[in-house]
Amino acid sequence: MDQVRTELQANVLQIVIDRPDKKNALTAPMYVALTQAFEQAERNREVRVIVLRGTGDSFSAGNDIEDFLQKPWKNDSIPPQERFMRAVANATRPVIAAVQGSAVGIGTTILLHCDLVYAADNAKFLMPFVSLGIVPEAGSTLLLPLLVGHRVAAELLLLATPFSAQRAHELGLVNHVVPVTELLTAVHTAAQQLAAKPTAAVRMSKELLKGHFRDDLDRVIRAEMQAVAQRLGSPETAEALNAFLEKRKPDFSKFN
Ligand code: COA
Repeated sequence: MDQVRTELQANVLQIVIDRPDKKNALTAPMYVALTQAFEQAERNREVRVIVLRGTGDSFSAGNDIEDFLQKPWKNDSIPPQERFMRAVANATRPVIAAVQGSAVGIGTTILLHCDLVYAADNAKFLMPFVSLGIVPEAGSTLLLPLLVGHRVAAELLLLATPFSAQRAHELGLVNHVVPVTELLTAVHTAAQQLAAKPTAAVRMSKELLKGHFRDDLDRVIRAEMQAVAQRLGSPETAEALNAFLEKRKPDFSKFN
């Protein structure tokens, strides 16, 4: 799978989303490869820190829209998206995300599971689930209100308001905003600092920070994915996804 690459250097594993021509939109095989990369990191004692990043001008445009249309998920099976979310949510190594350009859908919600998030000043965030006729995922209906409160979460998830790197920083979704040319250096420096710390203490501290919510998160991720599976079969979603592919505005006026 050449659209997901890994590079291990000095105890830091970079997991790179590499589909720049499609703004790093994620297909089912890409989720499988990403999950495998996170799972392999768990088994590799050399890996002390994970960096998640994308190539080109975007972090990720979220789930591939054609994939959404072609493979409506079944309620009773665990889709590759969910395995990926769980792999990131349950990673024992600290995960640092480097975000430039567009971070859409899961490109934003996956950041809620990362330990440190560095954003370039050109980063743009959007969680357009409702606009696509589906519902938010990756545990965002639990983690986002915890981070920003219900009102702001409703604005970002129901109104699906796009937001800048600066606002993401104010909301606590990202740690630091840096010029785009300095993004990888800033992330590399943080990764090296973390990799140099006592590994067991870092991992135990991470588990203590995240353990409180693990059971709730587990349940919420499943419930969200069941709701997404149900909504993917809806006529509103078909209209929204086809409108994107046909490069036109969706028309929801005919649906009650
Ligand atoms: N799925 C499939 N293809 C996607 C995609 C996605 N999520 N996001 C972008 N692409 C493709 C575009 O169709 C286009 O393909 P083409 O060159 O063959 O026409 C290419 O990537 C470039 O995208 P484009 O829209 O021209 O770039 P842009 O800079 O104008 O806008 C985005 C970038 C990310 C804002 C815009 O592409 C977008 O809104 N994408 C959809 C995001 C989305 O709704 N994701 C699902 C979330 S649940």
